[in-house]
Amino acid sequence: QPQAITVQELAAINSRQVPERYIREGVGALDASFPVLDVPTIDLQLLASSSSTSGDELDKLRSALSSYGCIQAINHGITSAFLDKLREVARQFFALPSEEKKKYSREIGSIEGYGNDMILSEDQILDWTDRLYLILRPEDKQTLKFWPENPESFRGILNDYSTKLHVILEVLLKAMARSLNLEENQFLQQYGDQATMQARFNFYPICPRPDQVLGVKPHADGSVITMLLQDKEVEGLQVLKDDQWFNVPIIPQALLINVGDQAEIMSNGIFKSPVHRVVTNSERERITVAVFCIPHPDQEIQPVEELINETHPRLYKKVKDYVSLYFQYYQQGRRPMEAALI
Ligand code: SIN
Ligand code: FE2
Repeated sequence: QPQAITVQELAAINSRQVPERYIREGVGALDASFPVLDVPTIDLQLLASSSSTSGDELDKLRSALSSYGCIQAINHGITSAFLDKLREVARQFFALPSEEKKKYSREIGSIEGYGNDMILSEDQILDWTDRLYLILRPEDKQTLKFWPENPESFRGILNDYSTKLHVILEVLLKAMARSLNLEENQFLQQYGDQATMQARFNFYPICPRPDQVLGVKPHADGSVITMLLQDKEVEGLQVLKDDQWFNVPIIPQALLINVGDQAEIMSNGIFKSPVHRVVTNSERERITVAVFCIPHPDQEIQPVEELINETHPRLYKKVKDYVSLYFQYYQQGRRPMEAALI
């Protein structure tokens, strides 16, 4: 359940100190000294086409998703002007007075709404972030009481965004299958037509101790795919690769798309669900919008048959409602992917 006080309020009350519950070890050096991850840029228009160059782009996609677990998607069909509008309504929402934002507060037992890091255990070290969590699709699963009416254009822009992302998701899931020489609907079928898209607007206030506090603790996503609109100017996302933390650079017009655990399961481990975290910043606040693509809880997920053979034995079992398993394992301090391992 949400604490009475958000991180944004904490930061406003005392801009020089961080409460004990946010302090952790092992954050590492300050931002400047992390190397930059050269996340491959993928042209979604090329992926969707059947032109001669689309084969090269498919190879590039497969290689990116198996070694980095993420891509910078460009030519995705959403204009930069639209992405800026979405960034702007997100900024306007978090800039509202606390009482106004708290009209949309998360309630006990629900994931949707406005609040700070969800407290799952007493000894949990908290993340330096507030968020607004909203189910976007299917439309009849939207809980409008959590959808801001201020700024006025918030709901309309978010609905448009969700429609646009759904198109991108189909293109991507088909291309992911084709890149592995599978029939193009193999992943889409498992994803199912009852799947949900859930948005998390992330607000990272200025933090006086970036050396001791994280915006988001290390984790891999429980989704099939996550689509992230990064802040236009402020970096913070880091990906773990070869046991090292790398900064993910900003490409303002791109969507940073990453593999989630469920796509790793479906691909029998070929596509990697990357471990990532968010560092804090002592000078500037940061706002991002993550959208998680998640199959219906009744939908069964498992490695595609054609990807299992003597050299690539089956790694994962059939799972249903992986997101629930994910949180169950997480709460017990276990690695969520263990829930799916054979
Ligand atoms: C997350 O992956 O949990 C958040 C990513 C971000 O805000 O950059
Ligand atoms: Fe994440």
